[in-house]
This record gives sequence, C-alpha cells and structure tokens, in this order.
Amino acid sequence: MTNVQALPTLAPEGAGHFSYPVPAPARDHRHLLGLEGMPRETLLELLEDGQCYRDQMDRGGIASHALDGVTVCNAFFENSTRTRLSFELAERRMGATVVSFSATDSSTAKGETLLDTMKVIEAMGVDMVVVRHASSGAAAYLANHLQGSVINAGDGTHEHPTQGLLDLLTLRQVWSGRFEGRKLAIVGDIMHSRVARSAIHGLVTLGVQVALAGPATLMPAGIESLGARIAPTADDAIAGADAVMALRLQKERMEQGLLASAGEYTKHWGIDARRARLLRPHGVIMHPGPVNRGVELMPDVADSKRSVILEQVTNGVAMRCAALERCAAESRNVA
Ligand code: NCD
Repeated sequence: MTNVQALPTLAPEGAGHFSYPVPAPARDHRHLLGLEGMPRETLLELLEDGQCYRDQMDRGGIASHALDGVTVCNAFFENSTRTRLSFELAERRMGATVVSFSATDSSTAKGETLLDTMKVIEAMGVDMVVVRHASSGAAAYLANHLQGSVINAGDGTHEHPTQGLLDLLTLRQVWSGRFEGRKLAIVGDIMHSRVARSAIHGLVTLGVQVALAGPATLMPAGIESLGARIAPTADDAIAGADAVMALRLQKERMEQGLLASAGEYTKHWGIDARRARLLRPHGVIMHPGPVNRGVELMPDVADSKRSVILEQVTNGVAMRCAALERCAAESRNVA
C-alpha cells in the first residue's frame, strides 16, 4: 500500500473540527449519529420497521402519527436534494411540524457559529435536528450540546447513517432478508465517502463480505480495519459479487491533484456493461446519487434491469420514517 493519506474516520467519535472531550453520545438512542458500533439486533429492528413503512408506501401512503406534536428542523449546511427532500417527506407524512434551511439562507453565512445558530433554532421549540455539515463530528458535537435529538444526514467524510440504512433495506429486499455470506463491492472515492463508511459498518455487522476498489490516492490507509478487503482492481472487486455500489466521482478531487482525469478514472473504475456482467447472475447495481452518468456509471448500466438506484431513493423515505420514529420514541422515554 503506497498510500499515506490519513483515514478520517479512524479518529475518535466526535473528532474533527468539532473535537470535544467527552465521548459522543453514540449510544444515546435519541440520536442517530452513525452505524459504527450499532448492534446487529438494532440494525435488523430498524430494517424491519423500514420495510413496514415501505409496505405502507406501496399500499398507497404512510399512515403514521409517530411525529404528531414533534417539531423537526432540517439544517443543511451542505448541498442536498434527495436527502433533504426525503427527510422532509418522511417527517411530514408522520405528522411533524417541519422547518428547513440550507447553508445559503443560514446565519452561519453571516459569521454566526454552528452552535449559536442551532441553539437559536432550539429556543424556538424545535425537538429534533437533522443536520448535514461539511465537518466530520459536527452531528456528534450538536448532540453533545443541544437538548433534543440529532440525526446525522452526512458529516464530512465520517458517516451518513440513514443512507447506510436505506442501502441495507434495498439489499434486504433484493437478497430476501439473507445478508450472511453475501458479497458486495464498493467502487470509487472511498477516502471521502461517508456513504461508504456507513455502508461498510452496517454490511460488516450483518455478515456481508465487502471489497473496496478505487484509485490508490483515494483509498484511505487502514480502511481494512473496518472489516473490508481492498481489491487490486474494479474487476477483482466485482467478479462474483452480489451487488456493486458505485460512488460519485467528486470532480474537486481532480483539482486537488488526487486524480489524473475523469477519462482515466472511467477506464479503470467506471462501471460499464462488461464490468456489470462480472457480477453474479442476480447481482445488482447501486449508487447513492447524484450520478455522474458516463463517469463512474455508464448510462446503459444505470438504466438497466440490474439497477436498484430508484429503489434506494424510495426506500430512503421509508427508512427515514423508521429512524425518525425510533429517535422520537427514545426522546419520549428520556423526557
Ligand atoms: C451522498 C452524500 O452527500 O454524501 N449523496 C447522498 O446523500 N445521497 C454522496 C455524494 O454526494 O456523492
């Protein structure tokens, strides 16, 4: 391994820009900060609940009052379309009062600190905060300082737990509930991917064999300690796998000199029809979105029968219902 980059998520919980001396409240179930350390039973319960919500959606709509009387703020300090809308839909369908803002319309753009902004919002009577922030540890930091529940909607390169859960729910459906012994390949920029991090934690806990593939400059040193194997090539990772998850090529990585060109990337790591055929016969194609068509995923593969990308999106609403319900219920128990 020639790579000498530091692995962001091997830092202690709550670390990063928002380093805080007491352990982050990862085991306080009012919060959902990550899938690292989440027990298998909890994961399976959440997936079962997520499937119930998905069944309700398929029957015509979610009929839950789990968030009646609860006020949720979606605080997105980083761009988002699907995650933010998915949370908003889930919250509204369960009866919550919902307020949302994004980086551009927040007072942090005027110099206010993250914590001051969030304390102001809490003082207005908000019970739950769904936060996306560019700094790893931001969600844990808020969980340590705010009274209410905090759900991590993506913190820097650390975790994106509801994405990890919706990926697992999609696989649960595709694999008829059996995770043990399945093989999954994650291909792309592993280094900067909170999606990969949450997926690895959840998949490994459920007994899935995870192979990682990507440019050496984007493969964090020590990532094997999370329980995944590093494959030398995309073909090696995908051959015989039950699923492949392509990650978005973040163009800004090229500006940082970590990649030669998008063309070079596509040649070595892009998922085309030939690579897709290396999967097992029922193997599926996943992507968290947004997809750079023709870069990490070829259009014919993204639109093929093997693709479960839109299923992932639908499952996102269902899985967020389950996660929100659980955090709200735990908050009531604590209160
Ligand atoms: C991802 C994210 O923001 O972490 N997208 C998502 O939430 N579905 C991945 C990405 O932006 O590439």
